[in-house]
Amino acid sequence: MIKGAVLPPGKTIGIFGGGQLARMMALAARPMGYRVHVLDPDPDCAAKPVVEKVIAASFDDVDAARALAKGVDVVTLEIEKIGLAALTAAAEHAPCRPDATILETIQDRALQKRWLKGHAIPIGPYMEAATPAQLKRAAEQLGGRCFVKAAHGGYDGRGQMELASAEEAPAAWEELKADSVVCEFALDLDKEISVLVARSASGEIAVYPVAHNHHEKRILAWSVIPAEISEELATKAKDLARGIADGLKVVGLLAVEMFVTKTGELLVNELAPRPHNSYHASDSACVTSQFEQVIRAVCGLPLGSVATVRPSAIANILGDVWEKGEPKFERALAIPNLKLSLYGKKPRPGRKMGHLTASAETSEDAVAVVRRGLNGLRP
Ligand SMILES: Nc1ncnc2c1ncn2[C@@H]1O[C@H](COP(=O)(O)OP(=O)(O)OP(=O)(O)O)[C@@H](O)[C@H]1O
Ligand SMILES: [Mg+2]
Repeated sequence: MIKGAVLPPGKTIGIFGGGQLARMMALAARPMGYRVHVLDPDPDCAAKPVVEKVIAASFDDVDAARALAKGVDVVTLEIEKIGLAALTAAAEHAPCRPDATILETIQDRALQKRWLKGHAIPIGPYMEAATPAQLKRAAEQLGGRCFVKAAHGGYDGRGQMELASAEEAPAAWEELKADSVVCEFALDLDKEISVLVARSASGEIAVYPVAHNHHEKRILAWSVIPAEISEELATKAKDLARGIADGLKVVGLLAVEMFVTKTGELLVNELAPRPHNSYHASDSACVTSQFEQVIRAVCGLPLGSVATVRPSAIANILGDVWEKGEPKFERALAIPNLKLSLYGKKPRPGRKMGHLTASAETSEDAVAVVRRGLNGLRP
């Protein structure tokens, strides 16, 4: 441990972003005795009811970033789209964990892929494009069926389009309205998994058990820890994730999303230097939740155990559930081992509003319980 690097309870943590991840970070930080300030464009953001202070400002507001950093002892983030100038300015007043160099690499899909490729990390075939003609050529070379993703800003499948053929490239370019994109070969997926790595300010590393993730309409629908995969694949995935976190020297968390293809290849999809939706079940599945762990990591405390307590799953509750009226929460909660987390956001179709968590004897059973709970929510 670096001398003086520990920020003990009583200190204040600043978070760029005040969404549900910041809310859950604050809910883990507070019982440990930390105070939390967030910066978010929305003064009524999801974290507001559980933090000491909200600075309402855009993520590239340099003065607001300074104000956040001046009022706290360490700065972290829950979202990648922070202006680099803002993060760099914040770092003049408080340590930023993770720092601007990591964010610069990760927030641009093209730079992220170049980094992965440059470090011999297995990824799927892709090409970069900065004009409609380049995109069409890329799609042709990749064989037509591909995913086009804006280099900056997308999440939950937004900012990306699936093409059935290169003929659709010009329309996709129009639709995405991006300066540059990456065009990825559409892989035949067997399953999607992720690995969360925690790395503290002292360089200590903890690698969580692998999560198995199921997406619907490109949004995470459910996720379970541990993934029911072979020991061999789990070890390979964890080694890969550990290597990336070490290579980037992330301080905080790094979630590594991976694809397992039908031919058995393990490929990295994308990185997120923060708590991740696919590890919300770590709260029940592991000794230390991802939210407690990120607080420990950025404060230079020893990391908590990531041992599995009991297989646990989450199912995301999307705004669509509100379509025909208020959800029947009492019906879901009648399932004895089901837990509810709501983020306090206004419902909109496709918007993540909360999640259900359940533990069970096996991962498969845990998934079945959260899915049953979710089915019971619709009025
Ligand atoms: N090249 C690909 N081949 C096959 N499926 C893909 C490919 N790229 C993306 N997908 C599917 O779309 C989903 C979302 O893609 P990706 O993770 O790149 O987007 P995102 O908007 O950043 O998502 P999120 O922020 O929710 O992780 C993936 O989890 C996968 O199901
Ligand atoms: Mg993703």
